Amino acid sequence: MTKRIRKAVFPVAGLGTRFLPATKSMPKEMLTVIDKPLIYYAVEEAKKSGIEEFIFVTGRGKEAIEDFFDYSYELNAILGKRGNQEDLDAVNALVLDPGQVVYTRQQEPLGLGHAIWCARHLVGNEPFAVLLADDLIVSKKPCLQQMMDFYGTVGGNMAAVMDVPKESTSGYGILDVEGPQKGPLMRARGLVEKPSVDVAPSTTAIIGRYILTPEIFGELEKKHKGAGGEIQITDAFQRMLPSYAFHGCAFEGERFDCGNKAGFLKATLALSLARDDLKNVTLEFMKRIKE
Ligand code: G1P
Repeated sequence: MTKRIRKAVFPVAGLGTRFLPATKSMPKEMLTVIDKPLIYYAVEEAKKSGIEEFIFVTGRGKEAIEDFFDYSYELNAILGKRGNQEDLDAVNALVLDPGQVVYTRQQEPLGLGHAIWCARHLVGNEPFAVLLADDLIVSKKPCLQQMMDFYGTVGGNMAAVMDVPKESTSGYGILDVEGPQKGPLMRARGLVEKPSVDVAPSTTAIIGRYILTPEIFGELEKKHKGAGGEIQITDAFQRMLPSYAFHGCAFEGERFDCGNKAGFLKATLALSLARDDLKNVTLEFMKRIKE
């Protein structure tokens, strides 16, 4: 039995160049799907999965994220005076408790592996989760919770995985899956970060949810550079094999890649259609522009 997962790391230092000019003066994690920023969905998923400590690895220009998860005294006072309970509930829904949230900075953009390593002192010696806000996952049971349910039996390193079209493998960490698969867990005998289509060992791709063993920090400490000249978390998984098993977890739910414009748009539409206040207006508009 492994330790309970209490801490989650949110790497939010990325520059967001795929969304310029919107991200010139605002963090990409604050881009809004309907009425909540992307980071909200990731933090909400972690909270629903039982996470108690939220560790943000930020960078310059990301202060809006800190303010978002803080209590806004002025706004609360004004809304309270106006008796606007609905808005008050909305702004306070995901305020994290004092001491529940910590921020550290990644000073240089050296890769996802490096960003996670920046959180090593805050995580300490226990398994922990990592959530990438770019991946918005809609599911009945939170994706991270689904992974936690399995992690206790296997330990090591784990990531959410899904099947992607062959031509998309160069955008992901890809698993070389070992043997026939039993249930949603698949053991990897190898992993490769962003392989070109001709060398990709499979179409099983890592999605931005991880549960990691703290031993990963020792591996990241070596600062090996991989794809794109960056320190890649996928390479650390590969190098830790076979002592630390890596499992992919094929989660139930729909994932939207909000790191690109088409995925962002699809997430906005899907979430609109799932809301009573927006469903009809969205459907009617789509019908009208189709004609
Ligand atoms: C990162 C990881 C990659 C993973 C992906 C999931 O890539 O490096 O292994 O498949 O997230 O979204 P990025 O999308 O940050 O380039």
